[in-house]
Amino acid sequence: MRNVNKDNITEVFMGYLGANTDPRLREVMGSLVRHLHDFAREVNLTHEEWNIGIRFLERAGEISDEERHEFVLLSDVLGLSSLVDMINNRPEGTSSSVLGPFHISGSPPLAVGGDMRRDYAETVLLVEGVVKDPDGKPISGATLDIWQTAPNGMYSSQDPDQDTYSFHGLQTVGEDGRYAFTTVKPVEYTVPSDGPVGDILRACGRHPWRPSHLHFIAEAAGFRPLVTEVFAEDDPYLDQDTVFGVRKDLVMHYEERPAGSFPSTGFALSGKVPDAYLRVEFDLTLVPA
Ligand code: BEZ
Ligand code: FE
Repeated sequence: MRNVNKDNITEVFMGYLGANTDPRLREVMGSLVRHLHDFAREVNLTHEEWNIGIRFLERAGEISDEERHEFVLLSDVLGLSSLVDMINNRPEGTSSSVLGPFHISGSPPLAVGGDMRRDYAETVLLVEGVVKDPDGKPISGATLDIWQTAPNGMYSSQDPDQDTYSFHGLQTVGEDGRYAFTTVKPVEYTVPSDGPVGDILRACGRHPWRPSHLHFIAEAAGFRPLVTEVFAEDDPYLDQDTVFGVRKDLVMHYEERPAGSFPSTGFALSGKVPDAYLRVEFDLTLVPA
């Protein structure tokens, strides 16, 4: 096409797609390019602005490696990761939420009632619930991959002072579907803001904070895997999560339990917690595959 102009360029692009282009690719690519073209026309994009955008993408590529995923972070702070989550969410199950970049595979087994708090002095937090199907039936043998920040707000992979699997555990539930473990309350923390995504946050007058949360990946044969998080209802950042991960059904009350009331059996810490502690109950509903 030699008569390309700013009004027909989107159609010309579509016409360049080969006849054998996968139909879904045609749909996704066509829509993406249409929105990109509309965006440039709508804001009258200048060369200078286009260059800033290209340089931004180059910097995101340069800073990314096996452990740092700046494009995922970009998607997170733009709300795209959460939007994809919500588009694919099934209402009969627990809401999904962002995976984030700090999940590591190979977490050590954590028995039901096991402890992730270890030597940390912070108040004990008891977390328990049931993994179930949408009819409320427990899912025997479901696994929960659990991870969270240490009290200093860092995940083990960010913190040379923590063991690789500090505050990480893999729990397999029994026939009753019940999971339970002790830990410390996670704390709010900032997403990495020393790269180009941090520059965007600052330029837009945004902060990098996430409300405190526990991460879970729940899996069971015959069910859709669920990647989710649990938040505390009193967290100051609950209504301004910089990655848009909070959903109503993921916000839980952390109940203050009095000294001397910790369960006397069933936990690694039974008999060792004389003081007041916190407890949160959170059931996970998985949807059949
Ligand atoms: C996280 O929850 O670990 C996380 C999610 C998105 C970006 C950064 C961190
Ligand atoms: Fe997190």
